[in-house]
Amino acid sequence: MEKLMIHGGRPLRGTVQISGAKNSAIALLPAVILAESEVTLDNLPHLSDVAVYTEILEELGAKVTWMDGKIKIDPSQIRPIPMPNGPVKKLRASYYMMGAMLGRFGEATIGLPGGCNFEPRPIDQHIKGFEALGATVTNEHGSIHLQAKELRGAKIYLDVSSVGATINIMLAAARAKGSTIIENAAKEPEIIDVATLLNSMGASIKGAGTETIRIEGVREMSGCRHSIIPDRIQAGTYMIAAAATRGDMIIDGVIPKHLEALTAKLIEMGVTVEEMDESIRVLGAPRYEHVDVKALVYPGFPTDMQSPMTSLLTQAEGVSVLSDFVYSSRFKHVPELVRMGAKIRVEGRSAIIEGGELNAAKVKATDLRAGAALVIAGLTVKEGVTEVSGVELIDRGYDHLVTNLRALGADVWRQAE
Ligand code: EPU
Repeated sequence: MEKLMIHGGRPLRGTVQISGAKNSAIALLPAVILAESEVTLDNLPHLSDVAVYTEILEELGAKVTWMDGKIKIDPSQIRPIPMPNGPVKKLRASYYMMGAMLGRFGEATIGLPGGCNFEPRPIDQHIKGFEALGATVTNEHGSIHLQAKELRGAKIYLDVSSVGATINIMLAAARAKGSTIIENAAKEPEIIDVATLLNSMGASIKGAGTETIRIEGVREMSGCRHSIIPDRIQAGTYMIAAAATRGDMIIDGVIPKHLEALTAKLIEMGVTVEEMDESIRVLGAPRYEHVDVKALVYPGFPTDMQSPMTSLLTQAEGVSVLSDFVYSSRFKHVPELVRMGAKIRVEGRSAIIEGGELNAAKVKATDLRAGAALVIAGLTVKEGVTEVSGVELIDRGYDHLVTNLRALGADVWRQAE
């Protein structure tokens, strides 16, 4: 186990390169199961969740070859081996194995997902989708077992516009017989990325990125080459870090449109943000205005940037209110920030944040984005060393974090606990 040591107070300056999106990668890897021949994925991030997913694919019989920055996966020999335990338990997004295996083999047994547990995260909408397509779904000894003689297209209305359920239904429906329509589908960029890969593999999916997705089932899917979209949450975290440390940073290799909700809030606070074709420059200011933020589904302000944003709002003058309408109690970072001297109280689904200086403390990352929030908070502290334990959770979503921060001028290092 390691902890992250942060000697803060230095403005972050320079350029950071953003890697491929974690939340795309961990859906694209299982999507490959639906093909009968080799798929190449470019721009795959170096993250522990990606390593776990490739391990799962190899256990199922895929041939996986890594070649500088890209991965080749031959899924032709994959078999529907039950996976009640093992690596599937390490990942929340192992739920995508359900849609992918069901779509290719008409059966799957997958241990219930692990991953970031900042609050209960149900999968009822995924199950509702699989059942509508004709699958029988049972929960046996902590594993979900899915079986279908034949998957048939259906019209599915999602009660909540869930990213995971939208992608899982696309995976299961891609090779089903007939047409599937997903209504109230999630619109996140990662959904478009998965649909793009599936279409390159031979699927017929229209409307990804809107609330109605139409899938015309195809009999066979085959290999292709696909480049993963940039990680908008990683990019947003660096933007927030640049603002919080009053730095001057170029965040490179991004799609600025994916970051519009954050960009708008930063500008409202008094941060200078310049958008270029594939990069964004963030220039901090000595004083920031308080703002109110509402985390919503895309294209609203992302819930995954809510925790890092909490840290930034401690640097604004006055009182800011940050509410999360996706996860009502994603506030485990708040008690840790309070240990650092932050004046924050949680009321219902909102954090009320009063601006003020933070101090160094020993804190614990309770999940991936809570960890990112603590790192940002530590970077603002002028005296002393902040110690963030639970760094393995941060490694789940931030490729080369320490190397990147050091290149930007931060005094950070990892240390054994
Ligand atoms: N929900 C249900 N039933 C379901 C599915 C979801 O009630 O069957 C609810 C959830 O409880 C939540 C809301 O719907 O209130 C949205 O959940 P969603 O299904 O969209 O979340 P997810 O697919 O499980 C992905 C990301 C999360 C990100 C959310 C929201 C992946 C692997 N994870 O989760 O990312 O917070 O969408 O944008 O793509 C992270 O990267 O740190 C992370 C947690």
